[in-house]
Amino acid sequence: MSASLCRSVLVTGSSRGIGLQLVKELAKSSNRPATIIATARNPTGSTDLQELSKTYPGVHIVTLDVDSQQSISSALEEVQSIVRNNGLNCLINNAAVGFSTDINTVTPEAMMKTFQINSVAPLFVTKAFLPLLQTAAAQSTGMGIHRAAVINVSSILGSITRNWGEGARFKNYAYRTSKAALNMVTRCLAADLESDGILCMSLHPGWVRTDMGGPHADLTVEESVSGLLTVLCNLTDNDHGGFKDYCGDNLPW
Ligand SMILES: NC(=O)c1ccc[n+]([C@@H]2O[C@H](COP(=O)([O-])OP(=O)(O)OC[C@H]3O[C@@H](n4cnc5c(N)ncnc54)[C@H](OP(=O)(O)O)[C@@H]3O)[C@@H](O)[C@H]2O)c1
Repeated sequence: MSASLCRSVLVTGSSRGIGLQLVKELAKSSNRPATIIATARNPTGSTDLQELSKTYPGVHIVTLDVDSQQSISSALEEVQSIVRNNGLNCLINNAAVGFSTDINTVTPEAMMKTFQINSVAPLFVTKAFLPLLQTAAAQSTGMGIHRAAVINVSSILGSITRNWGEGARFKNYAYRTSKAALNMVTRCLAADLESDGILCMSLHPGWVRTDMGGPHADLTVEESVSGLLTVLCNLTDNDHGGFKDYCGDNLPW
């Protein structure tokens, strides 16, 4: 993070992969947010996350299974007691699943499960945390993570425009459909939350070497997250309702 841009950030799915690296980079940066809320559905299962919270002050681990409304409600209570009257500046909806589902292997169950975690859950997590985002937004002006923002970690695979020609070679009905739906959630939220001054956008991290991206992906998790944080730090009202990649380039819906 190049500048002190906000007081608090919450990341979903921070047990491993991009979510864990986001928390790590945020915690290490010189001008870091004072409060970093790293959520995971099973925090005790992530020794890396436990280590981070022991090493860096202000890293709070909160249990959150984005697939459970009860878990969302409990997490909200806990986060409220952490951020108090400051509210929450930046919500990063990062948790997701990605099964391989081509025309031969796709099932209704895989479609529904992926839709639930990747598209429905980010909407309901955002809805739950909205009062905290509104509290933070009321304390500042302009648009960006210094005020309040909802960042949906999407994928270029959710681009309908790019699912053609070369771009259609990666076959995955469930994942691609879920991220296209997530992009629509982003646009719906952007329309609804603009009057509150809450910036909403979709962000593609690149093809990254994580459990989901696999060992042959283009980017290390460090490269991706370094780019993502630079983009996040520089968001303005021009980015509201947008779809960008980790380099800051606009992507087609
Ligand atoms: N890697 C890529 O190439 C790539 C490309 C484009 C977009 N993305 C997006 O980037 C984000 C992070 O991906 P990644 O590569 O870091 O994936 P990953 O390594 O598979 O990690 C996924 C994370 O999501 C969490 N998660 C899954 N279901 C959850 C639930 N119900 N509640 C809470 N957390 C849950 C996992 O927690 P557990 O440890 O508990 O399973 C894990 O922390 C995702 O939105 C993904 O779609 C990734």
